[in-house]
Amino acid sequence: MTEAAGIIAAAKPGFRPKVGVILGSGLGPMADDVTDATTLDYRDLPGFPQLSVEGHAGRLSLGKIGETPVAVLQGRAHYYEHGRADAMKVPVRTLHALGCEALILTNAGGSLDPAIGPGSVMMITDHINLVQSSPLYDESGNSRFVDMVGAYDTGLQEHARNAAQSTSLTLHEGVYVWFSGPHFETPAEVRFSRLIGGTAVGMSTVPEVILARQVGMRVAGFSIITNLGAGMSSAPLSHEQTMKVAASGAIDLRRLLNRLIADWVS
Ligand code: HPA
Repeated sequence: MTEAAGIIAAAKPGFRPKVGVILGSGLGPMADDVTDATTLDYRDLPGFPQLSVEGHAGRLSLGKIGETPVAVLQGRAHYYEHGRADAMKVPVRTLHALGCEALILTNAGGSLDPAIGPGSVMMITDHINLVQSSPLYDESGNSRFVDMVGAYDTGLQEHARNAAQSTSLTLHEGVYVWFSGPHFETPAEVRFSRLIGGTAVGMSTVPEVILARQVGMRVAGFSIITNLGAGMSSAPLSHEQTMKVAASGAIDLRRLLNRLIADWVS
């Protein structure tokens, strides 16, 4: 049990979330969908990161989506903020300690496939850890040797496909390639990522997947595609552009996640 988990449990006695959600760029407003919410700031939770990126609020909301008890983290720390892959270790372990059996991760990403354009939603079916860093470097013992086969839960993927169908959303699927950022990729890096089997590139999420799998949480991941990868279009890349398109793509993903979580089947 992390110290933060003790504080959270005391703030909402008897509450046991089933599903944890980490909201990335543009999806913050989804925290408003949590009913009967108790909210805590990361700064009051020992070990939670202090965030520096616009669009990441740094708040935890505990409550329900439909009848499903959830813990929603509004904002994450990224590897590029300090060069450490373990920035989300305490939050992910806290969600597990509180009772979450699954973790839903969201992010913004650049598409490597011209057919998956800005505003699209992509479900992550696997990833490539191109940064080749790990949140588990400081650990000892055998639990650090995490099996990453099936890291993205196939059962949750099936539920997400059903939720997409019932909300009339085109849900793309593919492989997420993790770059460190905060700079965007070069066109050569984007071509390379396509060659090695990537579908989208991004600057987050992979460390959290490793942490969640280490403790046995089922994982689902979704990218809001905010742009085509560097060099694939003439549009310049910027965080402002990411935020703007993420906010509009978020409307679809928010609907999908609400359905997926409200219809939760363990
Ligand atoms: N690259 C990396 N991360 C991103 C991108 C991108 O093109 N778009 C949004 N996040």
